[in-house]
Amino acid sequence: MSVLIKGGRVITAADDYVGDIFVDGERISLIGDSLDVSADRVIEAAGKYVLPGLVDPHTHLDMPFGGTVTIDDVESGQTAAAFGGTTCHVDFIIQPKGQSFTAAFDDWRSKANGKQVIDMGYHMAVTDLKEGGTLEELATLPDQGITSYKLFMAYKGAIMVDDETLFRVMQVAADTGALVMVHAEHGDAIDVLVKQALERGETEPKYHALTRPPETEGEATNRAIQLARVAGCKLYVVHVSCRESVEPIAIAREKGWDVWGETCTQYFFIDYDYLERPNFEGAKYVYTPPPRPKENQDVLWTAVRNNILSVISTDHCAFLWDGQKTLGRDDFSKIPNGGPGLENRLHMIHEFGVRHRRISLNRMVELLSTNPAKYFGLYPRKGTIAVGSDADIVIFDPDKLHVITAATQHSKTDYNLFEGTEVTGSPELVLLRGQVLVENDELVAKPGVGQFVQRARFGEELKPERVPA
Ligand code: URP
Ligand code: ZN
Ligand code: ZN
Repeated sequence: MSVLIKGGRVITAADDYVGDIFVDGERISLIGDSLDVSADRVIEAAGKYVLPGLVDPHTHLDMPFGGTVTIDDVESGQTAAAFGGTTCHVDFIIQPKGQSFTAAFDDWRSKANGKQVIDMGYHMAVTDLKEGGTLEELATLPDQGITSYKLFMAYKGAIMVDDETLFRVMQVAADTGALVMVHAEHGDAIDVLVKQALERGETEPKYHALTRPPETEGEATNRAIQLARVAGCKLYVVHVSCRESVEPIAIAREKGWDVWGETCTQYFFIDYDYLERPNFEGAKYVYTPPPRPKENQDVLWTAVRNNILSVISTDHCAFLWDGQKTLGRDDFSKIPNGGPGLENRLHMIHEFGVRHRRISLNRMVELLSTNPAKYFGLYPRKGTIAVGSDADIVIFDPDKLHVITAATQHSKTDYNLFEGTEVTGSPELVLLRGQVLVENDELVAKPGVGQFVQRARFGEELKPERVPA
């Protein structure tokens, strides 16, 4: 199958031009001013943006968490992603305590089997080095395409690791070239604050934020940065939500240390006040780190503009409000932590980032596609529009009006963080490796088209000839 995309405005992290793209099979094979080639299908893209498929490096699909399992499995989560222009994501395998990393990897692969709508890779979240996984086994993962290790510095009594585990994993990463990702919060202090709040009878959703003050995020971010320096590994701080965490990352980056930071769509728009919504509605916004006081939103926009933070992900971790979040109706600490977002990252960042002139179109592509592809060993197969790259392409109509609402979304959850938001600009057609995935608001391709991608290490290119496993 060949496809010719004619006359669109092609936007990558570096380029912005009007041209034609010829896709032969799964890859982009020609780019030119006005290509004179015949193709099985011609897509007229005049007036549209032609973007590289987005890459989301932070999602949780089909994940047991908080006494339940996320409502989106690989099929529904990836369908939501596809409608939002995301054609590749990296999901977290969470090592069950006592289980080997290999067994966990096998489990996660079999959960995804036959359901994949877009391409995907995995990070390995280490929870236990005492029984089950060993450091030696961890060291073998990068050669199997899992080139990032994740550690939770919070969620005490569940998936939190102690500093010894964090540091030992960092040392392995320094040897293997894997990227260390941290959920940075001071889990011990938060655990004390949560217990004390419950003893005082403070049970409502807002106490989720009040027991996780920004300083606990700032402290853990700084601790992880300093330990990564000692170990000599590369560090990526996930879901940065506040000034207290931005500042140590800014210092580290100014010094030229191997430290990168990510924030997520919701932190630009949802503030602490949402948690105070009555009738348990605040529970919809119980994710971690929590929504922060509004003044942090400008800090985050400045940080993504100045490359202190260099990725915007979703941290999609969807639960039903009615039936799952309600597990914590009488105790905020039992509300499963997480929110949906895979479908609306491009809508929201295009509207409030680009159209509201906070970032350029090129920077939007860099934050949502190119940088995540580069840091997570997917570039240049993913994350750009170039000859030889996978033909993962979004034809984006910058004039199409779209109202974000749970009523029409593809995630299985029963609410949307951005309910009722009107945006101008929406994906019109999405290609995955040359196949039409989404067109006319329909999923055209069948589950099973997506592939597992064996990722390269940070700083290494994922060569087109590297065949997916
Ligand atoms: O609340 C969140 N973010 N849930 C998913 C797990 C995590 O911490 O990323
Ligand atoms: Zn986290
Ligand atoms: Zn997460």
